[in-house]
Amino acid sequence: MTKGRGVCAAGLCTVWATTALAASDHGTAPQAVEQSRTVVQEAAKPKTGAEDRTKDQPSASEENRQLESAAPQLPLPQRAMMVAMALSTAFTKLFGVRHPVALAPMGGSAGGALTAAVSRGGGLGLLGSGNGERSWLARELAVVAENTTKPWGIGFLTWQIDVDAVEHALEHRPAAVMLSFGDPSPFAERIRRAGTPLIIQVTDLEEARRAVDLGADVIVAQGSESGGHGARHGRSTLPFVPVVVDLAAPVPVLAAGGIADGRGLAAALALGAAGALIGTRFQATTEALITPSTAAAIVEGHGGDTERNSILDIARGSRWPSKYTARTLGHPFLDA
Ligand SMILES: Cc1cc2nc3c(=O)[nH]c(=O)nc-3n(C[C@H](O)[C@H](O)[C@H](O)COP(=O)(O)O)c2cc1C
Repeated sequence: MTKGRGVCAAGLCTVWATTALAASDHGTAPQAVEQSRTVVQEAAKPKTGAEDRTKDQPSASEENRQLESAAPQLPLPQRAMMVAMALSTAFTKLFGVRHPVALAPMGGSAGGALTAAVSRGGGLGLLGSGNGERSWLARELAVVAENTTKPWGIGFLTWQIDVDAVEHALEHRPAAVMLSFGDPSPFAERIRRAGTPLIIQVTDLEEARRAVDLGADVIVAQGSESGGHGARHGRSTLPFVPVVVDLAAPVPVLAAGGIADGRGLAAALALGAAGALIGTRFQATTEALITPSTAAAIVEGHGGDTERNSILDIARGSRWPSKYTARTLGHPFLDA
């Protein structure tokens, strides 16, 4: 990968990314959701020696046929349900979605098309509203409404918004409001009073305890592998998620950070999470609001090409709290 590919013209934007994505992974958001679901179902099925499928592994559709033939006495809709219900979790039940996958509300990148595509694909799309800017929201909410009737939500950067932004979002009757990075206390009660499920993303145990105290319906445990911003002194997804799961129980927890396919989702479920919130993988889809050169940089990049810092925030004059740094693809600006 060439450092700096996909940067904005001003020279201060870069690609906020984490995991390496093979070129063949690039595709649409529903394909990404389906890819996760299929691999997890394979991982979740009990295996015996006779079923060891290192060679000649059947395709997902062959596996579904095998599952169906195992229950020939059931009518087709029920057999189909057996397959679909294999990944039912507290998260899928809460939102009535098919798959335990949520789109990270990536500011600017997770627009209406991507949000609707993930929801149509059976996950929970979350619009990346960032600071709640009205004209952006109006445009992208219209795209969501045109493209899905499935549940979707809106995510905000907590440190950038006021109560008006939340009030405005609630008028559009989202299935969830997600708050990340900063103190959610001023907004939690208003969201809960509207009867809207509240999702809070946390980066350390203090934030996790506060989210529980505020009555979050879902907590996202963000590990330090995450793309975009995260805790300067965060812990990796693998050790962080189970600690938050134990602390928050019975509140469902989604794992976030470095999850890009079904193997990652299977790991999240094994850690006790009720699903995964995925950012970078969905950013590299055709529905994301990014330029083709940025998409190419993400797909061609490798995890080792990323670094965590505040330099770009300082250079942009951004007021991001210093507690949170950003993981980005390398950039010549950072080498100076
Ligand atoms: C480009 C980008 C922008 C992001 N912007 C936001 C944001 O505005 N609000 C938010 O809650 N999280 C944001 N995140 C962080 C995600 O919520 C999530 O924690 C992260 O994407 C998970 O890690 P992954 O990218 O490895 O899947 C962003 C992530 C990326 C990659």
